[in-house]
Amino acid sequence: MKVLLTGGAGYIGTHTAIALHDQGHQVVIVDNLANASQEAVKRAEQITGTSMPFYEIDVCQIDALRRVMEATKPDAIIHFAGLKAVGESVAQPLRYYDNNLNSALSLVKVMLECDVQHLVFSSSATVYGDPERLPLTEDCRIGVGITNPYGWTKYMIEQMLRDISLAEPQLAITILRYFNPVGAHPSGLIGEDPLGIPNNLMPFVAQVAGGRRPEVQVFGNDFDTVDGTGVRDYIHVSDLAAGHVAALDHSQPGVSTYNLGSGRGTSVLELIAAFEQACGHTIPYRIVGRRAGDIDSSYCDPELARRLLGWKTEHTIEDACRDSWHWQRLNPMGYISQ
Ligand code: NAD
Ligand code: UD1
Repeated sequence: MKVLLTGGAGYIGTHTAIALHDQGHQVVIVDNLANASQEAVKRAEQITGTSMPFYEIDVCQIDALRRVMEATKPDAIIHFAGLKAVGESVAQPLRYYDNNLNSALSLVKVMLECDVQHLVFSSSATVYGDPERLPLTEDCRIGVGITNPYGWTKYMIEQMLRDISLAEPQLAITILRYFNPVGAHPSGLIGEDPLGIPNNLMPFVAQVAGGRRPEVQVFGNDFDTVDGTGVRDYIHVSDLAAGHVAALDHSQPGVSTYNLGSGRGTSVLELIAAFEQACGHTIPYRIVGRRAGDIDSSYCDPELARRLLGWKTEHTIEDACRDSWHWQRLNPMGYISQ
């Protein structure tokens, strides 16, 4: 299959491009480089020993997108493109709604024009908001307790896709709700390269381990969890990438929705301890107040994806820490230092 990846130069997109190539698919990448470097695509090409056509376009620009689709004729699209920083979305809601909703709308319009039927969409566990129950299954209620525009864009795009599917039943749409993606490609050549101060825990811990930042701030130790710190379902990005390949292999008309997570919860202190094992030294941390909007625990039941996609995670949190540390050591300033 020829698969076009919007936002394919980003963290999850580059890892998925490699997984697709490894399973015999052809890859085309489009990205406006708003949060990525073309160096990441070059590294993915280096790892796979193949060339991956790259188009620097904004997916919201429908004419540019149409030109790329007509020139490349993909069989399927994976829509990774989107802005994803939660705090920034609160400060710049218009920019987030504009970019995330319009890119999804342009894409589906051009898919219909060009008769492309298969779409995989990057959604997030954030749509569950305040979890109704744990572990989270795909039929849990969504939309209650979403605290930021980023989360609302994922919720709204999911709803748009369900509505479009009713009118366009030939479309095969898969919504993947990612839990917390972490880790890096084992080569150390590609990994997560956040702009500025990382929002998420794992890249922050990695930068403290590497000496780029002085200490981890642990956002609260009074949650209702094993040690009082927040519990999340961390999933190695290579497992997540494999989940996209499985989703495409099982793509069928209508909307299918899957949680992609490990099904295991890990606390902040447990993650720091695992990273200390990986890097071989202690990681300074300090308990501070809670971050607004944070919940006690979030982890999924990945059974549906196991049963219907034949997919499950293969990597542990220890593997993710090892690979994240490897990436951090080889690229202390990310791609920019190259
Ligand atoms: P990322 O920022 O590394 O990748 C997203 C890519 O989209 C970037 O390369 C960016 O330049 C590009 N992009 C943004 N707007 C664009 C536009 N209008 N046109 C073209 N390119 C555009 O993020 P990621 O971690 O790889 O996430 C990929 C997708 O998965 C995103 O939609 C994100 O919201 C979603 N997601 C990520 C996480 C996570 O923790 N990483 C969790 C859940 C869901
Ligand atoms: C965050 C986003 C969520 C998004 C997800 C993507 C918020 C409120 N939610 O979720 O919308 O889909 O990332 O992966 O931002 N922590 C610290 N110190 C830090 C950073 C985090 O203690 O410096 C803690 C948090 O309180 C949480 C855990 O680590 O308990 C994980 O945090 P993070 O990596 O930001 O992910 P989420 O909160 O799950």
